[in-house]
Amino acid sequence: MHHNEGGTGAGQNLPESPAVSERHGNVTAGIAVAVEGLALSYGQRVALHDVTFSVRAGTCFGLLGPNGAGKSTTLKILCGLVQPDKGSVRWFEAADGHPQPGEADRGPGVAGSGLTHRRIGYVPQEVTLYDRLTARDNLLMFGSLCGLRGRALEARIREVLELVGLGDRAQEPVVSYSGGMRRRLNIAAALLHQPPLVLMDEPTVGVDPQSRHHILSLVRRMTSSGVTVIYCTHYMEEAEAVCDDVAILDHGRVIAAGPLPELLARHAEPKVYLELEAPSVSPPVLFGPVSPHSDSSEAATLSETATAASAAAPVPSGAGWLYAVEGRDVLGVVEALARTCRAQGLAVRRLETVRPTLESVFLALTGTSLRDEA
Ligand SMILES: Nc1ncnc2c1ncn2[C@@H]1O[C@H](COP(=O)(O)OP(=O)(O)OP(=O)(O)O)[C@@H](O)[C@H]1O
Ligand SMILES: [Mg+2]
Repeated sequence: MHHNEGGTGAGQNLPESPAVSERHGNVTAGIAVAVEGLALSYGQRVALHDVTFSVRAGTCFGLLGPNGAGKSTTLKILCGLVQPDKGSVRWFEAADGHPQPGEADRGPGVAGSGLTHRRIGYVPQEVTLYDRLTARDNLLMFGSLCGLRGRALEARIREVLELVGLGDRAQEPVVSYSGGMRRRLNIAAALLHQPPLVLMDEPTVGVDPQSRHHILSLVRRMTSSGVTVIYCTHYMEEAEAVCDDVAILDHGRVIAAGPLPELLARHAEPKVYLELEAPSVSPPVLFGPVSPHSDSSEAATLSETATAASAAAPVPSGAGWLYAVEGRDVLGVVEALARTCRAQGLAVRRLETVRPTLESVFLALTGTSLRDEA
């Protein structure tokens, strides 16, 4: 890996890359990397069956999935550590940030070229640092492996240490570092050569909220300066915080992919929770067919809204009952519930709307069984 003179600097305040602003030029413009039909087995065990996705330049792409889904394997293929049995990886973004489909590498073994290596910064899932060396000496070593030398390397080391918030701890041996500091130094090592594409494999495992916040805001700064990030995690709230697009992998296949808001809208509906103070043995009936002769407009309204919503059976809660109603028209459901409660004289303890989370989509799509039992 070599210093990329004209490259988009990881985490630096550079203008948005042309690949981002000219996204609509042609079909492939704005795509940093596209993988198609990746398959890989470790002996008898199939790790990837058929993995296809593309990553828009200058965005954060979340590669999500339960343990053993194939996330790390996919990243290792992208950075050339593992060769796929089948499939292709195509690179569209040249070192200067311009989409150049003509220079795309193709086929298995694609990631071996020097050009590809110069473009990628890889943050491995396992922290790979020399414990007895100081942070600075670790970075000197990693920097020289990328072809950086002398003052340029010294200056870049200072920059990346500042980026990860370790500027004042550079002279300490890594053995004295906390878990969060190690994770941040692991990231710094991947950014030394200013790669326009950074692959991050679960960079926040075992860190405290402060380090996590620092890492997530670094990812946001990187993408806003035009760097493309592929971010592997099973923390769904992190993916929601930093990712533009996501792909959910399970058992070596992509089971859902797309822009985050679209994925949420496609696979989950907002929920309304209603908790009643109703010490009755059976729950008050809020839903159900309304007699055509009913002159209660409140009941009729709820019934109409409820046709567009679905309500789980109420469950006992405290000295009352808890209702969960799903429906796209959140305000309609809330209005109808409020009117019905007023009409029936029911006491409301809580009425709350909850938007769908990626966690709920993830669990709905991947199920709740433990992967190591599979
Ligand atoms: N070196 C290896 N030798 C044999 N099997 C492997 C090896 N690496 C991974 N696997 C298997 O390949 C599958 C995918 O593993 P991978 O590490 O890519 O998953 P992952 O999504 O990164 O999981 P995690 O969230 O636990 O990191 C798993 O079944 C795993 O056991
Ligand atoms: Mg992994």
